[in-house]
Amino acid sequence: MGRTARKTTGIFITLEGGEGSGKTTQARRLCERLSAQGIDVLHTREPGGTLLAERLRSLLLDHSAETIAPETEAYLIFAARRQHVDHVIKPSLARGMTVVCDRFSDSTMAYQGYGRGLDLRLLRTMNDWATGELTPQLTLLFDVPVPVGLSRRRGGAATQNRLDRETERFHRKVRAGFHALARREPRRIMVIDSTGPLESVAQTVEDLVMSWLNTYSARTSRHR
Ligand SMILES: Nc1ncnc2c1ncn2[C@@H]1O[C@H](COP(=O)(O)OP(=O)(O)O)[C@@H](O)[C@H]1O
Ligand SMILES: [Mg+2]
Repeated sequence: MGRTARKTTGIFITLEGGEGSGKTTQARRLCERLSAQGIDVLHTREPGGTLLAERLRSLLLDHSAETIAPETEAYLIFAARRQHVDHVIKPSLARGMTVVCDRFSDSTMAYQGYGRGLDLRLLRTMNDWATGELTPQLTLLFDVPVPVGLSRRRGGAATQNRLDRETERFHRKVRAGFHALARREPRRIMVIDSTGPLESVAQTVEDLVMSWLNTYSARTSRHR
């Protein structure tokens, strides 16, 4: 194929959910499974994914810092997201890679919108501006009751970050927010019950993503 070959565009998959819902664990597993199938995968996370965005992440998660206004928090997240989209996500998708991202825009709606109470419409507008309206084709929403998630985090190796230390009430609002987002976009957001053992959740994820990819490639090849 020459220089005018059809531009390939990769698939953008995000993993969402509250603290301790298993996103990071399952993202790693999913990337291993996809790679084993010969799929070219990029595993990344938010906030983060670039040098500047990882520095913003440290500021956002540091609980010894001064109190952070919800609006400040949102601006920092959007700043990190733009860097990540421009420097990592878009170029990888343009190369045809499958990008698997641990948290993305839905977390902003759930945490800053439903959790902190910032205006949802304003957040959507700002997020569109930050992402250039880049939206994942598939989002896996890992769902566990708040006490289960929090106790997993407290039992795990990871140190407690600023968000882990939020009240249970805050985390309940975040979870309800994720549910509202999933009801609004049922075709994009698949809810996965991640209360069960890690292995069975991983199997559910693999089955779901593989069947989604098959349907997706059948649908896109029909349109060529
Ligand atoms: N299905 C599961 N059952 C029990 N423990 C789990 C499960 N999934 C993840 N964990 C454990 O819970 C902790 C938090 O998981 P993690 O993947 O970091 O969640 P998140 O990234 O959503 O906060 C880790 O110690 C992890 O090993
Ligand atoms: Mg995580």
